Amino acid sequence: MCGIVGYVGEQQAAPILLDGLGKLEYRGYDSAGIAVYDGENIEMKKSKGRLKVLNELTHDGETLPGTIGIGHTRWATHGEPSDVNAHPHFNEDRSIVVVHNGIIENYLKLKNKLIRKGYQFISDTDTEVVAHLLDYYYDGNPLRTITKIMHRMEGSYALGIMFKEHPDELYAVRKDSPLIVGHTKGGCVIASDVPAVLRYTRDVYFIENEEIVRMTKESMEFFSVDEEPIEKQSTHIEWDVDAAEKGGYEHFMLKEMYEQPKAITDTFSPRIKKNDVVIEELGMTDEDIKGIGKIMIVACGSAYHAGVTGKYVLEGMARIPVEVDVASEYRYRNPLIEDGTLVVIISQSGETADSLAALRMSKEKGAGVLGIVNVVGSSIAREADNVMYTWAGPEIAVATTKAYSCQLIAMYLLAMKFAKVRGTITDGELKEYIEDLKRIPDQVELLLNNKLRVQKFANRYLAARDVFFIGRGVDYAISMEGSLKLKEISYIHSEAYAAGELKHGTISLVEDGTLVLAVLTQEDLYKKMISNMVEVRTRGAFVMAVTNEGNDEVERAADYVIYIPETNRYFTNSLAIIPLQLFGYYIAVGKGCDVDKPRNLAKSVTVE
Ligand code: F6R
Repeated sequence: MCGIVGYVGEQQAAPILLDGLGKLEYRGYDSAGIAVYDGENIEMKKSKGRLKVLNELTHDGETLPGTIGIGHTRWATHGEPSDVNAHPHFNEDRSIVVVHNGIIENYLKLKNKLIRKGYQFISDTDTEVVAHLLDYYYDGNPLRTITKIMHRMEGSYALGIMFKEHPDELYAVRKDSPLIVGHTKGGCVIASDVPAVLRYTRDVYFIENEEIVRMTKESMEFFSVDEEPIEKQSTHIEWDVDAAEKGGYEHFMLKEMYEQPKAITDTFSPRIKKNDVVIEELGMTDEDIKGIGKIMIVACGSAYHAGVTGKYVLEGMARIPVEVDVASEYRYRNPLIEDGTLVVIISQSGETADSLAALRMSKEKGAGVLGIVNVVGSSIAREADNVMYTWAGPEIAVATTKAYSCQLIAMYLLAMKFAKVRGTITDGELKEYIEDLKRIPDQVELLLNNKLRVQKFANRYLAARDVFFIGRGVDYAISMEGSLKLKEISYIHSEAYAAGELKHGTISLVEDGTLVLAVLTQEDLYKKMISNMVEVRTRGAFVMAVTNEGNDEVERAADYVIYIPETNRYFTNSLAIIPLQLFGYYIAVGKGCDVDKPRNLAKSVTVE
């Protein structure tokens, strides 16, 4: 996600800002900018693309003199990556400037209000609203002005702010987006994350929700939203710089697994309004939704697996026929696309060559295309008729975890929306599904915190040569994803099978010690699954099961069991995937593999 830095002190600000932004590059970004105040004017430089461009534009900061400034690396959410959408953002007379990390959820409402008051906007960002809102409420007192806008903004924010009338003061405030501040020799720094400040201080203050900081070169004061002063304790950071860039996690993959509760919440919460699912960006009326004759989901790899889950959930809940295809097959098989077919392309990067080609072909054949994409402004997002973003934030590890989890959530939201409109679920059922959805983040957290149990099991299987994942229904879909997670990062051969298919050939491969991971979360299929587990176990397999709490019967057919908390039959994939991700991860770590950059793989597959 976006990175924020800020500095006030005795030294030139720009080189410190650029250095800090460099340390936050790992968070992923598509544009960058800085604003520096020399006591007369606030000068700003920003540009789309890598930090290198900004360094060149500013001659490594030399062209922006001044000892107070703010900087930002942007990961686009509102508005495509571009120079004008890059941060910082000014108010109209350039007397207030802000950088922002997070999403102002009610920005449209605020923007419309400000437009009615005569404000003019030049960017598509939610952040520009903050600059104008500060201007609107500014009464000469920055602290009071900031508290006023805090009462009016909904969503998440970490902000760095400068006011021209207060040339020695730097302000920072946060709600639900990370922010730290620290003293340096002769100054203060702010940043989204520890690596940006480690060069200047190891004693930092973690800003809590709705706390405001006022900094000058000599002082640092903390305030509550009621403008009351607050006492805070600093924390001494021991991390080395490399570890800090991963937020203290050993690998990006583990960090991203731990980001799943937040990513899932960010993906569903803007689309749940009271007891309803509202997906404005679908661009479909109720009549359009009722007119859908078939859904074609097309994607690659893990995104395809999310689509397979989507098939079970959409058909089960909304009773719409769904076909799922891997994009590299779909694009060359001249698929039949009838009137009323909705094509859904799922992609984290939005740049996968086969998925993009599938999108273009679908449009040529006259289908309406919905993109489910993580990277804002990517090719698939731009070319789809409508785009529903997953809000996973930047994913650095090659093996997807949090983006995949958000794709599952997008599938559930679509199914709930379509089912409600087409009358295949009642209002009461929708309400229950929404309650279940809201519970998922905490349930995921719980499973992540139980990682030692999975690690213990994984450590026993570092020498495994073949692993089978089996399941039925949505559990088959999650078996595919579990199997891919394992093989792509640990290089252990593994396959996913629809459990009922085993005895049509593959069971001949099962021998003494073969590891089988069985997923059984569908109550009506427990008995069938247990029979399949007994079949492989009697042929010597060692069976680990992932099942629902309360399904104690599984113990008679499994050697090791991981229980997942209760949810409805459609959402279990979001929970069952956690132990499977952890299993793949710990096997790869145990084998000493390069977890974040597995051999032969690229994060974004932009060639065929
Ligand atoms: C596996 C993985 C890949 C991607 C696939 C599609 O962990 O990440 O299988 O899911 O390459 O990529 P996107 O979603 O960017 O289209």
